[in-house]
Amino acid sequence: MRNIPTNLRTRKSASASPHELPLDLDGAHIDQQASAPERLYQALRHAISTGMAKPGAALPPSRHLAEQTGFRRNTVTDAYERLIADGFAVARVGSGTFVAERIPSAVASKAAKRIAIAEPQSGTLALGCTDIDETTLRRFRSFVGRRMRAFGSEHLHYGDPRGSLELRIAIANHLLSARGLRCDPDQIMLTSGTQHGLRIVLSAILKPGEQIWVEDPGYPAARKSIEHYGGRPVSVPVDDHGLIVAKGRSAAPRARAAYVTPSHQFPLGVQMAMPRRLELLDWARAADAFVFEDDYDSEFRYDGAPLLSLAGIDHLRRVVYMGTFAKTLFPGLRIGYCALPENLIGPVATARAAMDRFPATVMEGAIADMLNSGAFAANLRRMRGRYREARDALAHTLIDTSDGQLSVPVPSQGLHLVARFAQATPLLIAAEAKAAAGVEGWLLADTYLRARPAPGFVLGFSGHPINKLVAAAETLARASAATLRIHQKAKTAPRRGTVARGS
Ligand SMILES: Cc1ncc(COP(=O)(O)O)c(C=O)c1O
Repeated sequence: MRNIPTNLRTRKSASASPHELPLDLDGAHIDQQASAPERLYQALRHAISTGMAKPGAALPPSRHLAEQTGFRRNTVTDAYERLIADGFAVARVGSGTFVAERIPSAVASKAAKRIAIAEPQSGTLALGCTDIDETTLRRFRSFVGRRMRAFGSEHLHYGDPRGSLELRIAIANHLLSARGLRCDPDQIMLTSGTQHGLRIVLSAILKPGEQIWVEDPGYPAARKSIEHYGGRPVSVPVDDHGLIVAKGRSAAPRARAAYVTPSHQFPLGVQMAMPRRLELLDWARAADAFVFEDDYDSEFRYDGAPLLSLAGIDHLRRVVYMGTFAKTLFPGLRIGYCALPENLIGPVATARAAMDRFPATVMEGAIADMLNSGAFAANLRRMRGRYREARDALAHTLIDTSDGQLSVPVPSQGLHLVARFAQATPLLIAAEAKAAAGVEGWLLADTYLRARPAPGFVLGFSGHPINKLVAAAETLARASAATLRIHQKAKTAPRRGTVARGS
């Protein structure tokens, strides 16, 4: 008689022995021509080597695995026997079969291989960081605590695909006071950020392969979202007045939409001039297209009043307005919002329900409290002062330390700036200088799609202590000047070792 453990549910093993082990019986690791015990063995070995079945864990009783997989019980015991023979499992008499504590090394090292996911930047000069001071944190924590204590039945069920009415009302009030944008709370949809909002609306309006104008240079994350959804981004160059609408018209007159950052072009920082705004809206009306207005940092205006939003000029007919708390509070919150044209409310709500049903409810009340209590506005006032100081420290340090090699227009809005070399400078100078300095932030060239890339950097100044910003800026500016000097010297030095050609 074979001494094959069956993982009988003894009292001792009952809690540890799973009834079901998720097994992939069809994947590339299975030889479909092999015998049944061999195929089951391959599936079990795969589950063990990929960590699905953890070292030391009990394997299911053979009877249960037979029921689960449709194999005969004998087939299961054969497969278990092979696992034991090959060192993937061990039998414990009276208890059952268990995954070995140490699996054979060839497989173990394969299993240990991890897919590399790019870590988001967070060091000095990284973009997308924010300051959040103790006062704001204290208020936020207390609102969250209060809401959690009042947590009730309204949070236990499915909800409106647009999110809580209470927060939508608070956002509508904020948009009116901060951006002069009048909209009904019914037009607002909460999202987990700008990317998410873009994706939901695209799924309601875009057929795969349709074109969307994107600014060039522009925001790579939006471009990637459009591509990922199956849309075709069409590069439209930007000048000092923003997106050049005439170029968009000639490149893709029938595009389905345009994605723009009109209040503070990302990354260049220019404001889209009023004639261009009107031209863009004229095109959208004539082409039956939509305009995505990414208004990501308008709350941080340092000089003068911002221009009326595109959505405000258009009265939300063709424009989808997108805002986010990732800048005004912090990105980890994952709450943003869209204001939708009325005729998109139905299709977008349907698309959202099909995508992820509705937003998570727990934080909504606390954010509404932040907005309604004035804590949000007070935080903006304090942060505006702090970011202005950080902006000035970064810009002046770059200018003062780079030997005149970097030009740094001081932005009147937002949380990042652009530092450029002269246009003729080879792009690799910026890449080499950044690598030599070992700082974060982006290469300006990485924000271009088809337009001729400019050499320089896109640098974040929010969410970093000023002394660290200054130190990083000095390092980068010095590395920029030094790298440029080395290249210029190499270019002007007479070539040595060339053999004169005699006649
Ligand atoms: C141009 C632009 N739009 C939007 C966002 C915010 O994106 P999200 O709300 O998806 O975090 C950012 C953040 O860095 C940005 O730079």
